[in-house]
Amino acid sequence: MSLEAARTVENTRGLLARLLGSEDPARLAFTLNATDALNMAIKGVIRPGDHAVLSQMDHNSVLRPLSALAQRGIVSLDVAHATPAGLVTASSVRACLRPSTRLVTLTHASNVAGTINPVEEIGEMLQDKGILFLLDAAQTAGVLPIDVSRMPVDLVAFSGHKGLLGPQGTGALYARPGLDLEPWREGGTGSQSDKPFQPYGMPERLEAGTPNTPGLAGLGAGLEYLLEAGVARLREGEIELTGLLVEHLRGIPGLRVLGTGRAQDSVGVVSFVVDTVDPADLGYILDQRYSIMARPGLHCAPWAHEALGTFPQGTLRLSLGPFNTAEELKATRDAIAEVVKDARGF
Ligand SMILES: Cc1ncc(COP(=O)(O)O)c(C=O)c1O
Repeated sequence: MSLEAARTVENTRGLLARLLGSEDPARLAFTLNATDALNMAIKGVIRPGDHAVLSQMDHNSVLRPLSALAQRGIVSLDVAHATPAGLVTASSVRACLRPSTRLVTLTHASNVAGTINPVEEIGEMLQDKGILFLLDAAQTAGVLPIDVSRMPVDLVAFSGHKGLLGPQGTGALYARPGLDLEPWREGGTGSQSDKPFQPYGMPERLEAGTPNTPGLAGLGAGLEYLLEAGVARLREGEIELTGLLVEHLRGIPGLRVLGTGRAQDSVGVVSFVVDTVDPADLGYILDQRYSIMARPGLHCAPWAHEALGTFPQGTLRLSLGPFNTAEELKATRDAIAEVVKDARGF
């Protein structure tokens, strides 16, 4: 039974490697979530005296570990600014680089505005300079086709419970072949147990303690679905639905959609503000009166809202998944239009 459990975990690792283009599944270490993977990557490569660059569109799971290291005097930081549409350009990252820069972190797509960043261009620029590139793919894994063997990236962090369709409590970190991270937790691996040190090889180097086997079995089911349906095909459906949602929302008086507004340049994350209703109130009414779930506020990305001009009140965010339908989007448009009309008093 125990071997069967171990095979379940390794089966999921193999499926994840297939989906993400990792030739060696062992380069993927399982984590609790993307936050865990990002911490592991940052703390596994940063050395005292290093300089690191993050972006205005990054999530608190990057801002906070790097800020904590900076507060302790371990690392110095610069922040690459985003455009008002939430795009981080290569020139904005380039302006932050220094001779001591060891690491650049960047979200693949914004969890606030959906904007997809030019990671190929940025990664190639960093590769030329020998700077490590950590990509936060929390919003893009299972949503955009990702091939880590071809992309100019060194480290990629994933959530299991978003686009990969797994349960909560699952995630992964990809480390490219030849890049050895310092583990930030050590412990039992069931291998080389006679030694007091963490095994050197991947993935044991980064995986200490009992894995979340039930969660990883669930993640395996999500990955099987994605491999069969095809991420590129699902992405076509997402572009269509995102475009439709943006079009619907733009037809509502007093409503402003954030981001580029172009579905092909965004993932299915659509943030908006309304001039007469606070995002938290609107989110509450949509939930209570219409059973529509939306997320109000800052979405754990306060600097992204500064870039978009929506700090501190935030936005209301609708997120699409592969199982949403055009009918649901129309119902959402009608519900929002009704609330906005009531708030305007005519
Ligand atoms: C861009 C981005 N990065 C990181 C995270 C953190 O992901 P997790 O909840 O898996 O730790 C999120 C979650 O919302 C996210 O959207």
